[in-house]
Amino acid sequence: MRVGVLTGGGDCPGLNAVMRAVVRKGVQEYDYEFLGFRDGWRGPLEGDTVRLDIPAVRGTLPRGGTILGSSRTNPFKEENGVRRIQDNLAKFEVDALIAIGGEDTLGVAARLTDEFGVKCIGVPKTIDNDLSATDYTFGFDTAVNVATEAIDRLHTTAESHMRVLVVEVMGRHAGWIALHSGLAGGANCILIPERRFDVDEVCGYVQSRFKASYAPIVVIAEGAMPKDGDMVLKDDSHDSFGHVRLSGVGEWLAKEIEKRTGKEARTTVLGHTQRGGTPTPFDRWLATRFGLHAIDAVRDEDWGKMVALEGTRIVRVPISEATAQLKTVDPELYEEASVFFG
Ligand code: F6P
Repeated sequence: MRVGVLTGGGDCPGLNAVMRAVVRKGVQEYDYEFLGFRDGWRGPLEGDTVRLDIPAVRGTLPRGGTILGSSRTNPFKEENGVRRIQDNLAKFEVDALIAIGGEDTLGVAARLTDEFGVKCIGVPKTIDNDLSATDYTFGFDTAVNVATEAIDRLHTTAESHMRVLVVEVMGRHAGWIALHSGLAGGANCILIPERRFDVDEVCGYVQSRFKASYAPIVVIAEGAMPKDGDMVLKDDSHDSFGHVRLSGVGEWLAKEIEKRTGKEARTTVLGHTQRGGTPTPFDRWLATRFGLHAIDAVRDEDWGKMVALEGTRIVRVPISEATAQLKTVDPELYEEASVFFG
């Protein structure tokens, strides 16, 4: 059996740990061969491959990024995309594919399996933690750690200058990173895409924090939206899956706070620092277990399935189930955090 592996979409810490586990178990226990495809779906589309064996994955457990490279290539937007992938899989004698990705990469894997019979197994990754059918995706814990450390650091500088610091975090249309890091970092308020925010209410929180002689830290998700307006964007370009590039709302909110309260307000956009660098122990643990179970799914020929975390157990679910709908923040969880606002 020869198994192809690819990593697609935004990179995130733990991708290499998955591949290391897949290859180690696949070679040692099942005598499989592996072939890496470069840059997500671009690899099988263009026949761009890379050696993937035990020496290639050695030493990669703590390494962020992906040794295979990644891209947001959508084969369904390319001429004869599916046929080209099928031809390349045949040319390289690849029997099955393990696709490690988020909503978009796995959405492609689901369609290739369900509609065209390509034998795919999915592994869920994304710092956004927005995939249904899994309690957590790896990468999320690392992103929350990076954001929390930044918030801790920003507290001391905000207090030295008695200014408002707005911290914009990633997460696309889900507020998980904002909610977890904001709660862990003691934010003055947390703004998430699932609940539109009122700028005057935010200004009220800010003023009350100053009254208590503390400087406020406002954590805002890049996809958060004001109550009486549209999404605020710095750049309105889209990627090949039709997603708009988010960011800009933090800067906009700081200006509004300054205008309405007269207090100096500055913004820190954490951006890709949340995706880079070494994975946390939790993410290494989760990524490794996903890898071990993904290769078992290949052995069982359980095509069209994705490995998922349910409590502490790794289970298999249809990829299409995980990609049908985004997992967003439950209003009750958000209410819980609001005790600390203001
Ligand atoms: O999905 C992961 C993510 O980091 C989102 O949080 C963010 O909106 C997006 O990717 C950024 O994408 P890119 O790296 O292509 O700018």
